[in-house]
Amino acid sequence: MISLNDAARRIRDGGLIAFPTETVYGLGANALDARAVAKIFELKKRPSTSPLIVHVASVEMARGLVTEWPAQAQDLAGRYWPGPLTLVLPKSAAIPGIVTAGLPTVALRMPAHPIALGLIEAAHVPIAAPSANRFMHLSPTTAQHVRDEFGDAVEVLDGGPCQVGIESTVISLVDGKLTLLRPGMISFADIQTIQTPVGPHPSPGMHARHYSPRTPLLLADDPSRFPDRSGAYVWWKQPGLTARSVHMPAEPAAYAARLYDVLHRLDSENWPWIAVESPPESPEWAAILDRLRRAAGNG
Ligand code: TXA
Ligand code: MG
Repeated sequence: MISLNDAARRIRDGGLIAFPTETVYGLGANALDARAVAKIFELKKRPSTSPLIVHVASVEMARGLVTEWPAQAQDLAGRYWPGPLTLVLPKSAAIPGIVTAGLPTVALRMPAHPIALGLIEAAHVPIAAPSANRFMHLSPTTAQHVRDEFGDAVEVLDGGPCQVGIESTVISLVDGKLTLLRPGMISFADIQTIQTPVGPHPSPGMHARHYSPRTPLLLADDPSRFPDRSGAYVWWKQPGLTARSVHMPAEPAAYAARLYDVLHRLDSENWPWIAVESPPESPEWAAILDRLRRAAGNG
């Protein structure tokens, strides 16, 4: 495996490095270098209309990348950074347009993973990184998932399995309003305890079908709705009679941490279909339900 210092040098030299965060593995480049960032879009086959998250190692680094740092940002960063919360704020001129897909705002996050923070500190630059998968594919939660996706095209820093397992909560703080752009394991209800709530609206980069395995996936409460018995069933409460079945934890944080690894594995086993038992409708499960609906193509 490439060393942290060599990886940091590769970032400074305009190259790409895949690295672990607590949510999913990222595909990183120097966020201040437009040509380096273009390589991310090329490798992922990501449309240029889809903006990237910029990862920082401190609040100071974040403040240098925006034109405003409101009290709300300071409060939320103080409570949740380092952690799975991304803040969208007006961008400074330091951030090239390619990073934000031409938007006047930038998404910032300080990840809670020692390798991610070590890489940013050693490179001395903020790192733009989407999840390290091809566009529309499942996000990686192990280094092996990244290798399976990209082979030798990118070096991977291996930090073990991701502890959170699904992507960060994305919040906009633009124009003094707090808006949920993507649900995550830090719930919007928790975030809103600082101020008056504003309703959710869709993020520009969101597609109904996203985070998808290649195998058709359906969300089903009731095994009698399965096409037949030849597929795989991912359940937490009620088992079903299928060729393959995976029992998931009944606790949302533990469920999220396992979800993508289970879907990657079942996908590689080539079942005709994957059925997933619907999670509870409660707020702690909202981000998981969001990802499952997207994987099923009815997000
Ligand atoms: O947990 C995560 O967030 C992972 C790790 C690697 O940090 N990253 C990740 O990146 O999920 P990606 O590219 O797969 O998702 C980025 C999300 C998209 O929903 C995108 O629309 C939103 O962030 N986003 C980025 N910049 C934005 C902006 N300026 N305004 C609104 N949404 C933005
Ligand atoms: Mg992604």
